[in-house]
Amino acid sequence: MKRIVILISGRGSNMEALIAARNAGRLPVEIAAVISNRPDAGGLETAARAGIATAVLDHKGFAGREAFDAALAGLIDGYAPDLVVLAGFMRILGEAFVRRYEGRLLNIHPSLLPAFPGLHTHQKALAEGVRVHGCTVHFVTPALDHGPVVIQAAVPVLDDDSEETLAARVLAQEHVIYPQAVRWFAEGRLQLAAGRVRVAGAGGGAAALIAPGD
Ligand code: GRF
Repeated sequence: MKRIVILISGRGSNMEALIAARNAGRLPVEIAAVISNRPDAGGLETAARAGIATAVLDHKGFAGREAFDAALAGLIDGYAPDLVVLAGFMRILGEAFVRRYEGRLLNIHPSLLPAFPGLHTHQKALAEGVRVHGCTVHFVTPALDHGPVVIQAAVPVLDDDSEETLAARVLAQEHVIYPQAVRWFAEGRLQLAAGRVRVAGAGGGAAALIAPGD
């Protein structure tokens, strides 16, 4: 069975969705550890309650990004994962780190990339007046919120949406597509070629889900 390490910085609801999928027998992975760069991340307690090993590596204790990244890689490698899953991990990772885990580092981003990289995606979607928003799971490359797309889910933007209502609609889909993407990886079905992802046995293309409105 494939081993994964999950990196978080906060509440960890995507991590929780992965744990729930594993517990329900829908995600054939061993969650070797959950690592947070913030000692106060709420998700740490959730992981510990689920019987998963947790570790904290506080970025504040490091002089710079490279030193932190190197220590993080050392910690991760101690768990010998096949896949590293960024789930609300709010630190930018340097090029050396990203290259080290090339093809086995996934991220989830709350927008339909390449639209709205970075922070405050829901606010930006509302400000731009887009009618469709969503979320993306992608392999990580050195450019921020960039990389081969594994799966996306689209949701409508409704006239009376606030940042909060839109975020909640997107988050519900994040919890669907992240376990799906990790499952495909665990089943050995993700093929990366020329910057594009193919899902073996899924019609040859990375999938997109269109979620209904509320
Ligand atoms: C999610 O919206 C994720 O896409 C983004 O940060 C948020 C983390 O939420 N990268 P959680 O910690 O998984 O609840």
